[in-house]
Amino acid sequence: MMNAKVRELLNSQINKEFYSAYLYLDFSNYFKAKGLDGFANWYMVQAQEERDHAMLFYQYLQNENQVVTLEAIDKPDKVFECHMDVLKAGLAHEEYVTSLINDIYAAAYDVKDFRTMQFLDWFVKEQGEEETNANDMITKMELFGSDPKSLYMLNQELAARVYTAPSLVL
Ligand code: FEO
Repeated sequence: MMNAKVRELLNSQINKEFYSAYLYLDFSNYFKAKGLDGFANWYMVQAQEERDHAMLFYQYLQNENQVVTLEAIDKPDKVFECHMDVLKAGLAHEEYVTSLINDIYAAAYDVKDFRTMQFLDWFVKEQGEEETNANDMITKMELFGSDPKSLYMLNQELAARVYTAPSLVL
């Protein structure tokens, strides 16, 4: 029998992860419109990963015989003045998601729900990688963003990112 608060937080995370996918699609859309296809590709792959995250929470709840409730996904409503704004919004969002994962972990810990804690271990590690990636994007833009040739090369580098399925299998 899963604790009600843990169930509610896990269920809510499905929505948060789909929102993340939506947010990164919006980022991809921004860069596509600016002619930076490599950045657009990078965020498209990011959106695919977020969809996977959502599905992992969905699948975990179903595996635990819990009823999933799907809620409406918020509209990404940020207006960006420059490329760096997008990247900083990405880092802020990942820090927020880390706090959500930590909250679920804390709730599971409180009721000794070791199975959920084990499930969340993958996400704890993943969030570390997500924040590192978001920070790296900011650093690269700081270093190379103001020089057109360097920005072109950075865009080429980001075009090479390919989607890979998550290492967590339920
Ligand atoms: Fe699903 Fe970017 O964390």
